[in-house]
Amino acid sequence: MKKAGIISLASYAPEKVMTNFDLEKMVETSDEWIVTRTGIKQRHIVAEDQATSDISTIAAKEALKKAGLEASDIDCFILATATPDMLFPSTGCLVTAKLGFTGVDSPPAYDIAAGCTGFVYGLAQAKAYVESGLYKRVMVIGAESLSRILDWTDRNTCVLFGDGAGAAIVSEAEGSGILGCELGSWGAGGMHLTLPAGGSLNPASQETIDKRMHYVHMDGNDVFKFAVRAMGIGCKKILDKTGLTADDIDWFVPHQANIRIIDSAAKRLGIGMERVLVSLDELGNTSAASIPMTIDKAQQKGKIKKGDKLLMVAFGAGLTWGASIIEW
Ligand code: ACO
Repeated sequence: MKKAGIISLASYAPEKVMTNFDLEKMVETSDEWIVTRTGIKQRHIVAEDQATSDISTIAAKEALKKAGLEASDIDCFILATATPDMLFPSTGCLVTAKLGFTGVDSPPAYDIAAGCTGFVYGLAQAKAYVESGLYKRVMVIGAESLSRILDWTDRNTCVLFGDGAGAAIVSEAEGSGILGCELGSWGAGGMHLTLPAGGSLNPASQETIDKRMHYVHMDGNDVFKFAVRAMGIGCKKILDKTGLTADDIDWFVPHQANIRIIDSAAKRLGIGMERVLVSLDELGNTSAASIPMTIDKAQQKGKIKKGDKLLMVAFGAGLTWGASIIEW
């Protein structure tokens, strides 16, 4: 059977940076509170004329350049996001157009709605496509413009998130590639993290706008508890599936939501913080982009070597969770 692996990975963080000190001027908060409770120091924010498809396209072009490939070499585009440009068309389709596809026989492109777990869900699909022989090369993008759906008067949520995009090309790999993926969900807990209006349940109206229902609503403590449990389950399942132990893992790559959640997951695994990739101090929580952006930051710093084993684990809206181990 064919083996799928990530042959190229790139990311893009918008130019504009918003620090905790900037937030102090907007809501009743402090740099000290944000850093001690979350680990976040700053986040990037999309420009006024940038949407999720734009930042996705930048990351996708960079991943293609690194691989020495053209957009036409990709057979399928999967885009994970909670902040699509519009409800439809899918942001994945918009990206293919921005990458230069013009024909009605352009490759399949679609979005995945799995919140912050979306990139891991996409990776699992790409692995299945490549290994079954359905598609040769699949682009998996995780991208968010969360600043567009945040209530900038709500200190409980607006301090946590950031914007950005990461793109990976999954193809037949020489080494061991993607060793496995484990995905799960807890739909019964879904209402702990919502954007309540703008869909078929609560169509946009003056009332939904007045009630601020087009912004992120989150029960932070419930999501925190879910995150700790789900990350534990995901890590255990993927280690069992691949027959590996935490000692075999060179880099632990948790979803970047909160340093306390990351600490707790690493401790549970018995992995020291020197083997944990952290980017949330610079990027905040970029949801579906968090894992590929974190890996890219580490590869830019020369941390990740060929043959290293990376354990990724994420949780997010849905509620969802997912874990994967890849050999770089
Ligand atoms: N600045 C100052 N004070 C604040 C702020 C802020 N930005 N936000 C909340 N507070 C206050 C609260 O109002 C509360 O005050 P009170 O005691 O007077 O009521 C106090 O701080 C403590 O609030 P808690 O919610 O108990 O704070 P906690 O330590 O739990 O941290 C946090 C909150 C950071 C949101 C935490 O619960 C968390 O990280 N949860 C998980 C969130 C998460 O992972 N979200 C992403 C999920 S998936 C995805 O990525 C889309």
